[in-house]
Amino acid sequence: MSTSPLSPQDKAKREAGYKAAEYIINGMTIGLGTGSTVAYMMTRLKERITEEGLSICGVPTSIQTTMRAMALGIPLVGLEQVEKIDIAIDGADQLDPELRLIKGRGAAHVRERIIADASERLIIVADPSKICQQLTGPVPIEIIPFSMSHVIRRLSDLGGTVIVREGVKKDGPVISDNGNIILDYTPPAIPDPEGLETTINMIPGVVSCGIFTEFTKKTTVIIGEKNGPRIIGL
Ligand code: 5RP
Repeated sequence: MSTSPLSPQDKAKREAGYKAAEYIINGMTIGLGTGSTVAYMMTRLKERITEEGLSICGVPTSIQTTMRAMALGIPLVGLEQVEKIDIAIDGADQLDPELRLIKGRGAAHVRERIIADASERLIIVADPSKICQQLTGPVPIEIIPFSMSHVIRRLSDLGGTVIVREGVKKDGPVISDNGNIILDYTPPAIPDPEGLETTINMIPGVVSCGIFTEFTKKTTVIIGEKNGPRIIGL
């Protein structure tokens, strides 16, 4: 069977994902993020389980990650079954020099935020295209369906543009793993990510937006680069 060669971006994702898998030691509980870069980490984690007899369990952040872990044979537990999570490993859509993030391209950011909060340490794996000097968006926002018109009005009052995320191979809105709707909000600019995160999260009906500013002190970023992974932070 022939496999097509990886693009430079996918090579960078693999580099970052494989490096993150090295941080996992025997007995750890791991928060398993969502997306293509985390998928590489899980592939390497599975190899380590097989080759080294590593004993770990994962807490998944999405149905996609649950399905991948089950296909690979990575042991899973529910959040309610663990007292703490040692490390969460997750991807990002944008990250700034202070390690503030935008997440949620995969509509998994609500569970990702819960798992990041429950974890002692957060490792973000990314390719270089995710690095920016200032976050710009779009900012994914999960909202309860009843609130849609109200939240759109409130966001429009802040300026910028807001769209309802549409399904691919599904007519109508994307429905999250939690049964909610996703908006993608592009503000005119994001000079104050903490302020915008709070403002959006305070709108009634918003479950959570994809700006993550509160985890910077426990965050390590691994960027896959041509000459090897680059580590930023802890
Ligand atoms: C899903 C996410 C992902 O972690 C983020 O979109 C990065 O994905 P990828 O590694 O595929 O680029 O936030 O909601």
